[in-house]
Amino acid sequence: MGFSYMPGFGNDFETETLPGSLPQGRNSPQRPAYGLYAEQLSGSPFTAPRGTNERSWLYRIRPSVRHTGRFKAANYPLWKSAPNVGDHELALGQYRWNPVPMPKEPTDFIAGMRSITTAGDVLGQTGMAAHVYVANRSMADGHFFNADGELLVVPQVGALRFVTEMGVIELRPGEIAVLPRGLVFKVELVDETVRGYVCENYGAKLTLPDRGPIGANCLANPRDFKTPCAWFEDKETPCRLIVKWCGQFHVTELDHSPLDVVAWHGNYSPYKYDLATFSPVGAILFDHPDPSIFTVLTAPSGEEGTANIDFVIFPPRWLVAENTFRPPWYHRNIMSEFMGLIHGQYDAKEEGFVPGGISLHNLMLAHGPDASGFERASRAELKPVKLDNTMAFMFETRFPQMLTRYAAEVETRQENYIDCWADLKKRFNGTPEGDWS
Ligand SMILES: [Fe+2]
Repeated sequence: MGFSYMPGFGNDFETETLPGSLPQGRNSPQRPAYGLYAEQLSGSPFTAPRGTNERSWLYRIRPSVRHTGRFKAANYPLWKSAPNVGDHELALGQYRWNPVPMPKEPTDFIAGMRSITTAGDVLGQTGMAAHVYVANRSMADGHFFNADGELLVVPQVGALRFVTEMGVIELRPGEIAVLPRGLVFKVELVDETVRGYVCENYGAKLTLPDRGPIGANCLANPRDFKTPCAWFEDKETPCRLIVKWCGQFHVTELDHSPLDVVAWHGNYSPYKYDLATFSPVGAILFDHPDPSIFTVLTAPSGEEGTANIDFVIFPPRWLVAENTFRPPWYHRNIMSEFMGLIHGQYDAKEEGFVPGGISLHNLMLAHGPDASGFERASRAELKPVKLDNTMAFMFETRFPQMLTRYAAEVETRQENYIDCWADLKKRFNGTPEGDWS
């Protein structure tokens, strides 16, 4: 079954499944067609400036007050929220992990969420959390919404289907999706087992970065973002709704599906994006720009140029710079960097950083190419080279990222990561040539 999408980023979309189900010329008619209820979903305060004011009008079989009952507590102990400080005894360091193990028990997308880091403060609506999800079954009658932030989903293994109240997003590795705060959805598995990364953004919404002198094109182009057309089900069978709210989980039982939006319009909506459509811009003579040149989406913090989150990718590209050390340089950073690898190999690490793996280079902790990568890049013949079969990414935030106990203790953490730099030799010998023996 194919689902359809509307192109554009942050457009004022409109979509209806039944002819005439979307009111025209007004938002709240006295009696909407088909006996639907009109409901506004606000993603920004009413009075937010026009450029960041986001809301949608949903026309649904029942209003959302009928999709909640009495809540009771639910328990998802591996999904953590900030602040989550002092959760483990592991000392400070640069860390790297092999892929998070796939579950042996039946596990859906929500139960399969394993938090790796948290940053900022969910109650202050600042910061983020970085998670890995692993799942081997669909959410059959379970539904979910996250009041704590939007979810940026980066699949690494297996295709998924996000059945949301505003439409259906099918997603495979190489694509990303963003599910806004408050959106009700369930996750169905297209493939048997799935794994991927999630950035939970507590702060202002992800948006496209300004391009500055790059101009009106390249990087992520707005038309390549896809928002689903309306889709609904009229299902009168028992369902559950799980809510994440201020770091805690609650569940309520329903006797019908909450995915009942027959038509909607507005600019607050989920979307997906194919990373292969990102048009990278880079060095064409020497050096290379800072990795911010590869920013797909950015979530501002309120302080100019200081992102709550930057979502950055390292896509296939040509390396042509002359007399240049072409891999990423050695680096210490006020921003903290959570990296993942969707497929292929990352150019600063020759081995040990595998697809599905993670590295974490936190506030002001040094990092850069491993010793073998440095050796190779320092001696390589600098002809044009296509860096192919690679897609790494980074969740970068202005806040330090605190490890969870799960991440500190999981058996896939590499005890010896720090050793990847041990063989970097002293080459200074007082001569301009240095010691390259
Ligand atoms: Fe860095």
